[in-house]
Amino acid sequence: MVFQNGNFAFGVGVGVGVGVVGFTVLQSSLRKLIQTLFSKKSLEDEVSVETRVYLVGAGPGCADLITVRGLRLVREADVIVHDRLIPVDLLDKAKFGAKIINVGKAPNKVRFKQVDINRILVEEARKAARGSLIVRLKGGDPFVFGLGGDEVIALQNANISCEIVPGITSSIAVPACVGIPVTQKIIATSFTVISGHYAPGTQGAADWDNLPKRNSTLVVLMGARNVNSICSYLVESNGWSDSTPVAFIQSGTTVEEKVVTTTLAKAQHEAEKMQLKSPCVIVIGQVCSVLPRLNYRKKVNNKTSVWGNARDPL
Ligand SMILES: C[S@@+](CC[C@H](N)C(=O)[O-])C[C@H]1O[C@@H](n2cnc3c(N)ncnc32)[C@H](O)[C@@H]1O
Repeated sequence: MVFQNGNFAFGVGVGVGVGVVGFTVLQSSLRKLIQTLFSKKSLEDEVSVETRVYLVGAGPGCADLITVRGLRLVREADVIVHDRLIPVDLLDKAKFGAKIINVGKAPNKVRFKQVDINRILVEEARKAARGSLIVRLKGGDPFVFGLGGDEVIALQNANISCEIVPGITSSIAVPACVGIPVTQKIIATSFTVISGHYAPGTQGAADWDNLPKRNSTLVVLMGARNVNSICSYLVESNGWSDSTPVAFIQSGTTVEEKVVTTTLAKAQHEAEKMQLKSPCVIVIGQVCSVLPRLNYRKKVNNKTSVWGNARDPL
């Protein structure tokens, strides 16, 4: 019980021994509780918070390569709408009762069109109780070939505001984790991240004719299907030396990671030999052979792990 006497607040029972500030807080909480119990207004009306939508980058593959902010949001989310290429372990961190929606799009097996994903996001944000937290969890960084911009526009058009939580992009982190720096003093003073989704010279393809030629690294995402045409185009139509080093990194930073280094001349043969498939990052340039190869995977209790010795760093 709390009494107030002029400017002097003091408490009896539970409150005994607590300072004036403590009493004031206690008083206001009690007042809120009593108001809620005896008025028709719900606490939700009282608090009046907007539904929050966050586009969160999940990182390149290994669960603990998400940012601290991203992980906090995953833990607190009421709804998680996630892509295919997110570390599934991260979903174990969702709170009990969180609604999990998989909108993953496998290559050549479209499960959800982007317009449907946009619609789901808007619907979930509208359905959610006020104050709910919706996390749109995307592989790597939401704005690197992630169609994050489309989702922001769809939400904005529906008058729903959202925030971006950047992620570690596979384009830099996947090479880095196996010891390939995208820049290196003197030998690579720029790098280009390019989409290999369409073969060079075909409709919709990126501008393969105006790439920096000297001291530069080329990082190709979504290029597994078109690896032959990409490598031969660079040599035949773009003047790249066929001895240029190339690295294929498949399922980087996960237990399935495979790394093969070769040259533009031998790339086709090596890609066939390793049965290169998505997801893979293709790195082209001298940086592929500048450092010793690093092994991201570790053997822990005879099992291959990317966690190192930590039991569960999350
Ligand atoms: C649609 S893009 C999304 C990229 C993502 N937003 C990012 O920043 O990493 C998907 C492509 O990223 C690359 N990728 C994503 N995760 C990868 C991984 N763990 N290993 C290799 N490549 C990966 C592959 O090229 C894949 O086809």
